[in-house]
Amino acid sequence: MCGIIGILGKTDTVPAMLGALKRLEYRGYDSAGVAVLDDGQIKRRREIGKLQALMNSVGDDPIAGTSGIGHTRWATHGEPTTKNAHPHITSRVAVVHNGIIENFRDLRDELKNLGIICEGESDTEVITKLLDHYLQDGMDPVTAFKAMISRVTGAYALAVLMSGEKDLMLGARRGSPLVIGLGDGEMFFGSDALALADLTNRLIYMEEGDLAVLSHSKAEIYDKNDTLVQRKISFSHISGALIDRGNHRHFMQKEIYEQPTVVAQTLGRYLNPNTGTIALPAMDFSLANISKITLVACGTSYYAALVAKYWIEQYAHVSVDVDIASEFRYRNPVYAQGGLCLFISQSGETADTLAALRHAKDAGQHVGVIVNAAESSMAREAALVMHTHAGPEIGVASTKAFTCQLAVLAAFTVALGVERSVIETSRSRALVAELESAPTLISKILSDHDPIISMADKLASARDILFVGRGIQYPIALEGALKLKELSYIHAEGYAAGELKHGPIALIDEHVPVIGIAPKGEISKKTISNLQEIAARKGNVILVSDDISLSTEFKGAFIMPTAGQFIEPLVYAIPVQLIAYYTAVAKGTDVDQPRNLAKAVTVE
Ligand code: AGP
Repeated sequence: MCGIIGILGKTDTVPAMLGALKRLEYRGYDSAGVAVLDDGQIKRRREIGKLQALMNSVGDDPIAGTSGIGHTRWATHGEPTTKNAHPHITSRVAVVHNGIIENFRDLRDELKNLGIICEGESDTEVITKLLDHYLQDGMDPVTAFKAMISRVTGAYALAVLMSGEKDLMLGARRGSPLVIGLGDGEMFFGSDALALADLTNRLIYMEEGDLAVLSHSKAEIYDKNDTLVQRKISFSHISGALIDRGNHRHFMQKEIYEQPTVVAQTLGRYLNPNTGTIALPAMDFSLANISKITLVACGTSYYAALVAKYWIEQYAHVSVDVDIASEFRYRNPVYAQGGLCLFISQSGETADTLAALRHAKDAGQHVGVIVNAAESSMAREAALVMHTHAGPEIGVASTKAFTCQLAVLAAFTVALGVERSVIETSRSRALVAELESAPTLISKILSDHDPIISMADKLASARDILFVGRGIQYPIALEGALKLKELSYIHAEGYAAGELKHGPIALIDEHVPVIGIAPKGEISKKTISNLQEIAARKGNVILVSDDISLSTEFKGAFIMPTAGQFIEPLVYAIPVQLIAYYTAVAKGTDVDQPRNLAKAVTVE
């Protein structure tokens, strides 16, 4: 998703803005630009492609100014062209925007009737020209900005400069996050805390419908009713250093290797090893009375939810529905009286998941979230907030956030089972002990996975790849397929192993690698039979299992350390991440920022 930086500074803002845009790259983008007030006049540079193109453009033809706004654009309306890149400007205003203006066509027609023509296809250009029109009509800057905001429907985070207004920067948010940074005689806007790392750690997270009027010395915030309000000042601990790859080739590789540490630190916030109990955050309802749980998420987080369904139903005996967030509210869910809806999101800003959360909240459900971004919209709108402590995840493909989501969901399952007297103390201690063993097992896999590295070249030349698993490993097969396709652009699908005979086996020939996820056990015996059926049809089977006796049964194998059954999904997430990573490296794709993808999908 788009990234925003705004600086009302004391020195030239261009270097700091470029640094902020660098920190925002992880969100995914296809063009970038900056605009400044140079002696009161608006000056702009914008380029398609990576940030380096913009840096070159600014280097070749410098602009400078102590007030500036910058943007990385992930195209929604209008192709990724220079004309559609932000900032959008007129002689009077400069605007950067994250979100979608839903009524931009009506506004564009209205402007056209006034003789004001929009050249590009972007919705942002329309609101820029509308704002300019209000200024030209004689409105003062703040009145004009409020008037423009009152006309638009849809989602936006905006930062705006106006020519001649050296001590003014305007911003607004609805549906897309925007953070105010409080400096020493300086003010900032950013899409998230990371954008403002190294600039300030004093942040104000704007709320839905907030509009901000910044000067060098103060921040005025008006709520959706245009009432002047005070908002909480938070202190961020994120530094720019956290987004340093270190000696890793990619952020994704670094984040894969951080998993033993971050899974341990996440578990450490919930497990009490001495008593073998789990401590969940405070909640305004009793888990003992919850008879129905609905889990809602997108993408990788949705697969975490699928794993949790197996855990919660098997260990805590509570019925669970799992929904894709973008589908959830459109199926008109029949909510259970007093049910609990849990929303899982690394970013805490995914528009589909946030909309589903609000739908459930309006219906009177108990609402909880599992988020990695502590100050995200979802964290602020839920009654129960369970944090994953994965640290900032820069790689667009989610890895450490996923395993930390699983760690929290596993801990939640045990706590729920204990609260409902379904898991007694000795069982709870055993499950907690298993969870505590997860980081070591992950480390073992990370310290030796040469067979995965060796298979990457072959996988990279495949046209189609299947992942299969049974039971709780089925969601891990789905996650493996998503990781592989989003990183290497190879078509990959995840299947329930038992489902192959019902059609997909027609896809099998010697050119189709099939990765079978089958930890030793009763359920996997059936998976092995399914894999043998595939091998009998020349399928190129690669087994991922801790059953050493099967290490030569198929064309390829990656032998895993043996894990407790409860934590197997958490541990088997690692090889599928590594398969995707090394295959993408072999293919030479952009591992950290795969094409077309965004880290936080803040549009529906
Ligand atoms: C994960 O590898 C993907 N990049 C994507 O599916 C992601 O999981 C999805 O967009 C949900 O994001 P969230 O967890 O921030 O809500």
